[in-house]
Amino acid sequence: GGCVVAVDGPSGSGKSTVSRRLAVALSARYLDTGAMYRAVTWAVLRAGVDPSDAAAVAAVCARVSLDVGTDPQAPHIRVDGVPVDGPIRGVDVTAAVSAVAAVPAVRAALVALQRKIIVAADRIVVEGRDIGTVVAPDADLKVYLTASVDERARRRSGENMVDVDTTAADLRRRDQFDSTRAADPLRRATDAVELDTTRLGIDEVVSRLRELLGV
Ligand code: CDP
Repeated sequence: GGCVVAVDGPSGSGKSTVSRRLAVALSARYLDTGAMYRAVTWAVLRAGVDPSDAAAVAAVCARVSLDVGTDPQAPHIRVDGVPVDGPIRGVDVTAAVSAVAAVPAVRAALVALQRKIIVAADRIVVEGRDIGTVVAPDADLKVYLTASVDERARRRSGENMVDVDTTAADLRRRDQFDSTRAADPLRRATDAVELDTTRLGIDEVVSRLRELLGV
């Protein structure tokens, strides 16, 4: 039968690696909702639109078409047919994504698309910030991953070759921005299992989740 696993948490909490590995173990699909917000941000920057101009950002979002692949071994995303997997991880997109993700029309459009993708998949692991609370409140398992800010910065810095202090500063800035705006998506669902991954390896986190799912 169908199975939806919601994985939420802040940047660098281990969501992506854990979610992909869990999806492979479950022979499930995988959806990275952060990549969708990043892809819209890429389109906004490409159009020369100011990310803080909510109306203009909403207009860009309404006219672009996102194509999201859900194979956990080879996730990919295209904007109007253009593969953007590389550029959406760049510093320009990272600096602007929180502002774009704060636009209500962007959230409404992406949440609707995420729900379509979830319904179309029989089994899927979905990662983001509002999956257990907004996108899939009926998920079979909700997980909330945390880790200390230093550990999160260390992990993220290892991924993009940006030094650890710059990364820590960026994480603090985005944590702060994401959590002080009116529509902060990052909240732990009351029925989510919280896992502090600061001292846990990926394998340990994945086995913990498999235990919780009974598989
Ligand atoms: O892991 P990291 O936060 O670096 O990146 P991400 O998961 O790719 O998400 C990038 C940004 O998109 C976050 O900082 C949030 O501002 C936003 N986001 C969101 O608002 N809602 C989601 N479900 C996923 C991401």
